[in-house]
Amino acid sequence: MKQVVFTFLLALTLFLDEATTILDNTTTYSDSVSDNVGIIISLWNHNKNNAFKQRINLIPFSHLNITVTDIPPDIWFIILQIHTFQYNATIAYDKDLLDKVSSRSLFGSNIGLYLKTYNVTTPIQVFLKHYNLHNLDALLTIVAYDRNAPIPGGCNMEFDIEIAPYQKLHTENEMIIVDTQPASILAGNGLPTLCETNPVQHKMYRLYLPRQDFTPDTYFEAIASMLTTQDIVQNGDEIPPTLTSPMRRIYSAYTGTGSVYAAIAINGNYSSAYIPIFTYACSPLLYPETCQVLNDTFAEMICALVLIIGFLLVIIGHKYAYIDRLISSCMMGGIFGYTLAIGISDYSTTINILIGSISAILAVTLSAFLRSTCDLCIFLCNLPLGFLCTCITYLYAPVWMFYILEHDWLFWPMFVSLMLTVAIPLTKMPYIAEIITRVVFGSYFVIIAIDYYIGSNLKYIILTLIRRVTISEFHLAFVYPPYQHADVILIITWFVLIIVQFLIQGCTKLCRKMSVVESAGNNTETTVLIPKQRKRFYHRYYRKSNNRYNVL
Ligand SMILES: *[C@@H]1O[C@H](CO)[C@@H](O)[C@H](O)[C@H]1NC(C)=O
Ligand SMILES: *[C@@H]1O[C@H](CO)[C@@H](O)[C@H](O)[C@H]1NC(C)=O
Ligand SMILES: *[C@@H]1O[C@H](CO)[C@@H](O)[C@H](O)[C@H]1NC(C)=O
Ligand SMILES: *[C@@H]1O[C@H](CO)[C@@H](O)[C@H](O)[C@H]1NC(C)=O
Ligand SMILES: *[C@@H]1O[C@H](CO)[C@@H](O)[C@H](O)[C@H]1NC(C)=O
Repeated sequence: MKQVVFTFLLALTLFLDEATTILDNTTTYSDSVSDNVGIIISLWNHNKNNAFKQRINLIPFSHLNITVTDIPPDIWFIILQIHTFQYNATIAYDKDLLDKVSSRSLFGSNIGLYLKTYNVTTPIQVFLKHYNLHNLDALLTIVAYDRNAPIPGGCNMEFDIEIAPYQKLHTENEMIIVDTQPASILAGNGLPTLCETNPVQHKMYRLYLPRQDFTPDTYFEAIASMLTTQDIVQNGDEIPPTLTSPMRRIYSAYTGTGSVYAAIAINGNYSSAYIPIFTYACSPLLYPETCQVLNDTFAEMICALVLIIGFLLVIIGHKYAYIDRLISSCMMGGIFGYTLAIGISDYSTTINILIGSISAILAVTLSAFLRSTCDLCIFLCNLPLGFLCTCITYLYAPVWMFYILEHDWLFWPMFVSLMLTVAIPLTKMPYIAEIITRVVFGSYFVIIAIDYYIGSNLKYIILTLIRRVTISEFHLAFVYPPYQHADVILIITWFVLIIVQFLIQGCTKLCRKMSVVESAGNNTETTVLIPKQRKRFYHRYYRKSNNRYNVL
């Protein structure tokens, strides 16, 4: 049997600035015949605060031995990690375990093992294997820790591997759920302390990638920036704990936006990082259409319709004052119907949208009938504006608010009272309320339609509330959305549209006033020369003659 041995001694003077260049240097292992493809990593001269990083590329069905040597004497353990792009791989302590499910091997795409290095005489080795039909693009990283650092996952009670520095992630019901196991520390005598009296603190962090960016380079750079505790604190956003479990975090899923989840364990002045885990909240490789928000023609058509209505409202909405009421009730009806459809049963998106549209039409009809000037009606008409403002507040509420908002019994009263706080004062000034409603909703229609086309996140202003109503666990989810260039541009556009509409409105009013003044000045001539009925007659006459021309 042909035996080829690849041996790589890597000079490891890694600094953070070099991280990207290191990531560009991919080593390809292209020998499929032999089992003995190996990589030897020397940690000599390795700086404790930096992670070792190496891009590797494995041909289909290949193995890789990874041996770590020259570990500095002050290092007590290392966390060796493999981050694969899209495909899964298996990492194991023993070569024989690669093909089995066992408590000493791990399958997934953000995997890694704890390796004790202090006072160890046997070679420090792990084994990697993958069964994909494609080349496996991966990042191999090693983070080293000294005696005082907490051992990530050292107090594991639930995961398969005894010391579990990895995290588990699953997506369900528009939520991303990330689980981590508690860390342990060594007592003065070198033995692990009891996990019941664990002084270790845990903190979780999240980092968003640019939306709809499914390239390996972006992925690996994001992972590489969330490996050490310093980097995690610097690059990630800290996520407050949920009510139920300190080791679990629940997030609202933003489809098509990659996100890295990291955790750190802190004991006094010392800290260590868990293996970061990653998701796009969809599978760009197996089911690319799941990463698209608008994935059928029907939804695209509805979106186009909304865009057209929005533009019409922005441009000529002020000429038809009664429309604004209809538009906001149309939107509320649509949201109500859609929420109801989702809440009742598992229909397809098309049916949900259809039910939403029908409900929107019903709401418009109803409010067209009820359009009177009773106080209650005016109040009801202002509710949509209050609703929109409250939804925005919920989505972009500061992080500390999460401690309050995750309680349903606090959330709903706050939601309703904020809505009323906006709606009630507006009832006192119906004219202004009318203008504001028209201006805000008209431009929101434009913005939301563009948002769906380009895949940014302003649609979650409403979607998050729908999720909160329809998904039972969702109150525990951290909802703060990605806030990227597209979102900023859209928000600016929204404001510009609002201002433009106010200007148009102001101009129209001014013009009307001017013409009133003018006609007041000239009234002797105009009114006397052409009495009202005559005027109408002329009008009709001209129209008729025009029509005649058209027919000819
Ligand atoms: C890439 O890595 C190999 C060893 O894996 C090393 O010999 C080579 O100098 C590196 N190239 C660059 C540009 O860093
Ligand atoms: C890979 O591991 C196997 C089993 O431990 C061993 O026989 C083989 O020599 C190793 N190959 C290399 C290159 O380290
Ligand atoms: C990787 O494994 C997970 C969990 O078993 C599975 O859901 C996913 O489809 C796998 N990915 C690929 C590309 O096979
Ligand atoms: C190192 O290992 C040897 C044998 O396993 C043991 O006798 C010794 O106490 C260990 N030293 C330390 C500092 O743990
Ligand atoms: C933590 O570090 C500070 C300053 O570096 C030091 O004063 C303090 O004693 C340290 N605490 C522990 C528990 O080591």
